[in-house]
Amino acid sequence: MSSEQTAVTLDKLIALCKRRGFVYQSAEIYGGLNGVYDFGPLGTLLKQNIKNAWTSSVRGFGDVVMFDGALLGPQAVWEASGHVQNFHDPMVDCLNCKKRYRADDIDLNKSCPACGVKKWTDIRQFNMMFKTQLGASSESTSIAYLRPETAQSIFINFKNVLATSRVSIPFGIAQIGKAFRNEITPKQFLFRMREFEQMEIEWFCKGETTSHFFDAWKEARINFFYGLGISKNKVRLRPHAKDELAHYSTACVDVEYEFPFGWKELEGIAHRGNFDLTQHSQHSGKDLSVFDDETKQAYLPHVVECSVGVDRLFLTLLFDSYAEDIVEGETRVVLKLAPALAPIKAAFFPLTKKQNDQMEAIFKNIRAKTGLELQFDLSGSIGKRYRRQDEIGTPLCFTYDFDSDNDHCVTVRNRDTTEQKRIAFDSIESYLLDTLKASAAR
Ligand code: GAP
Repeated sequence: MSSEQTAVTLDKLIALCKRRGFVYQSAEIYGGLNGVYDFGPLGTLLKQNIKNAWTSSVRGFGDVVMFDGALLGPQAVWEASGHVQNFHDPMVDCLNCKKRYRADDIDLNKSCPACGVKKWTDIRQFNMMFKTQLGASSESTSIAYLRPETAQSIFINFKNVLATSRVSIPFGIAQIGKAFRNEITPKQFLFRMREFEQMEIEWFCKGETTSHFFDAWKEARINFFYGLGISKNKVRLRPHAKDELAHYSTACVDVEYEFPFGWKELEGIAHRGNFDLTQHSQHSGKDLSVFDDETKQAYLPHVVECSVGVDRLFLTLLFDSYAEDIVEGETRVVLKLAPALAPIKAAFFPLTKKQNDQMEAIFKNIRAKTGLELQFDLSGSIGKRYRRQDEIGTPLCFTYDFDSDNDHCVTVRNRDTTEQKRIAFDSIESYLLDTLKASAAR
């Protein structure tokens, strides 16, 4: 095997995602919906593995309970959170070709990249929330918004969770769920979408401990990305300058990844102070404070938030794990995903149809015993079957060949090294589980 690496491009990833059933353009047969994507069978599995890894990592930090809030929120929530007033992006139009841009995405001293004419409108602020109306009434009380972040449903339920769970300050509430933003220019595939999923943890603590927890979360989060196998030289922490801070945050650090289109935010870690609980207390008129048994005083907890997009992390993992090398004179595409993330953990091949029944019995037995996502494949040459599995990141392939009836062994082939060795039928399960365990410990 040659270790030659070929640069990954967005176009190669998009093609691979479609070819292998990871991601499709949404409503493709109707011309597609810009910034909206559907996840196919393998994409769904990869997403689920990402979510599982995230959940166990944030729950490993301390007392963390899970939450699943509604997607729709009444206007009052988004007024209190500041999103109605502040959740804007600057927008500008080309007066000649009518193309619309995010003003901070282009140089307004230059001509329109689409038509070459320099004739811009003034910059306007565009609110990115999707607004809708509940029921048939046209009153303002029936206005609702699709949530632009999952966090607010946690804040407005803070007291409910505290009262009904066996947790006390400091503790976290974690949520994975959809968020919606009417991005002016969705782009770079899963990087900037209009409908996406977030994984957010709100860590509630006393004000004087926030800096300590802010630092502890920064460390935990960067270690999470290392643990997924992401190249260490491609991830960094970048503190926000004061003029970059979102309306709710006192301090913020981005975890950035070096995409082919530059260093970009992968996750935001924010010191939100007690901004959110203060706002919701004032706007709802409900007391959201907590009583401190030590000081005998009520206080509003502060919050450290870590927020990462499932889809953006999905894209990052594809970029980071994609490789091309030469195997037996042919270029192969391989996703070197950590085995714990790989959608399919192992594939089982009979060398020819003659070995079909024996290998299918082994495959079904291992699948029933382990509950893992495994594939059985008998179509095409062995080389083609290996390539198919390499492209989707399957760590191990087991082949039942002409000798297997006699020696009761199969050949196991490693995705990354392409090395092959023979192992006994009754070692397959432990070999597979050990490979997965080793990757979980990275
Ligand atoms: N609650 C804080 C919050 O929402 P954010 O920086 O706006 O902060 C957090 O978003 C994360 O959500 C980002 O770091 C990114 O991973 C993901 N994200 C945000 N907008 C996105 C979009 N349009 N498409 C895909 N992912 C997005």
